[in-house]
Amino acid sequence: MYAIETENLVKKYGGLTALDGVSLKVPEGECFGLLGPNGAGKTTLIRILTTLIRPTSGRALVAGFDVAKEKASVRGAIGVVPQAMTSDLDLTGLELMDIYARFYDMGKKERRDRIDELLTMVGLRERAGDLVATYSGGMRRRLEIARGLVHRPSILILDEPTIGLDPQSRHVVWELLEKFRKADKLTILLTTHYMEEAESLSDHVAIIDYGRIVALDTVEGLKKQIPQKDTIELTVSNIDMGKAKEEVSAHSSVSSVAVNEATLIISVDNGANAIPELVDRLKSLGAKVTRVTLKEQTLEDVFIHFTGRPIREEEARKVSFLLGAGVPRQWGK
Ligand SMILES: Nc1ncnc2c1ncn2[C@@H]1O[C@H](COP(=O)(O)OP(=O)(O)OP(=O)(O)O)[C@@H](O)[C@H]1O
Ligand SMILES: [Mg+2]
Repeated sequence: MYAIETENLVKKYGGLTALDGVSLKVPEGECFGLLGPNGAGKTTLIRILTTLIRPTSGRALVAGFDVAKEKASVRGAIGVVPQAMTSDLDLTGLELMDIYARFYDMGKKERRDRIDELLTMVGLRERAGDLVATYSGGMRRRLEIARGLVHRPSILILDEPTIGLDPQSRHVVWELLEKFRKADKLTILLTTHYMEEAESLSDHVAIIDYGRIVALDTVEGLKKQIPQKDTIELTVSNIDMGKAKEEVSAHSSVSSVAVNEATLIISVDNGANAIPELVDRLKSLGAKVTRVTLKEQTLEDVFIHFTGRPIREEEARKVSFLLGAGVPRQWGK
């Protein structure tokens, strides 16, 4: 069974098509990353899956429940961490957790035990009595993750969980998500525009652009889909460069070799695998290899291949996390 399943989801805001036929399946227990630039439709999809807005057409099942027809059941099965920070500044961490636990009709002891467990896991137990207003951005995010899990949902949905956080806090959030995923056997769906985040957390990544899924696979699978390859640079001495090029070119995984002074620039399928063999070949001809560098394909290369532009360009213009829903390209009627 799939934790989340969507079929041809379309969402229109007036004349603007924010989602243009999104179909995806997230198996139970998986961490699924939805990677896309500003305005791609990530929050729109999250809002549909979390029953906040209705799709214009198409269907979505979350934990087996229809998001349009079985809202209460969907809400009981999911925990949500929205894009904008939504923890109330004038409550203490403990009060905030308790209010949310009461929404789910949890008894007093159950609430106390679960909140204590969660605050310990997110490293906020010592600060539980302090106002959220005194927390750092990273602490608020951790509290919001704990809040999303208070009723032991089987699916956690996070919209850009680390946006605006410094790299260190971002890593703390990643570790936390991994920890909860194992401890609670969670299915996680997260959106992000950080390549590194999608790459380090996700079993499968879908790239979304202008409301369409343009690619969906494991990170490794996505990298295999693009023609660009890894690049190895080997700087050598004690050998004729023509001969070195010939020797390296003969290796089965090498697709092209260029020579720049004493450096061979080698395009290859799997750089890490090929390096030892290439170095051995050159050494067997009496060459010395004085420098080795490897530039592996990144998710950034994959993104550029499928969308025609780097995601960083978009990131620079990204302002919408302040609003949560995205700044419309054109306000809907
Ligand atoms: N309530 C709304 N009314 C009109 N248009 C909207 C509304 N909400 C979103 N949009 C538009 O729908 C498109 C998708 O927006 P969405 O917020 O889903 O993108 P996103 O991928 O979450 O972007 P971001 O990375 O900036 O959060 C955008 O063009 C956005 O301007
Ligand atoms: Mg968004």
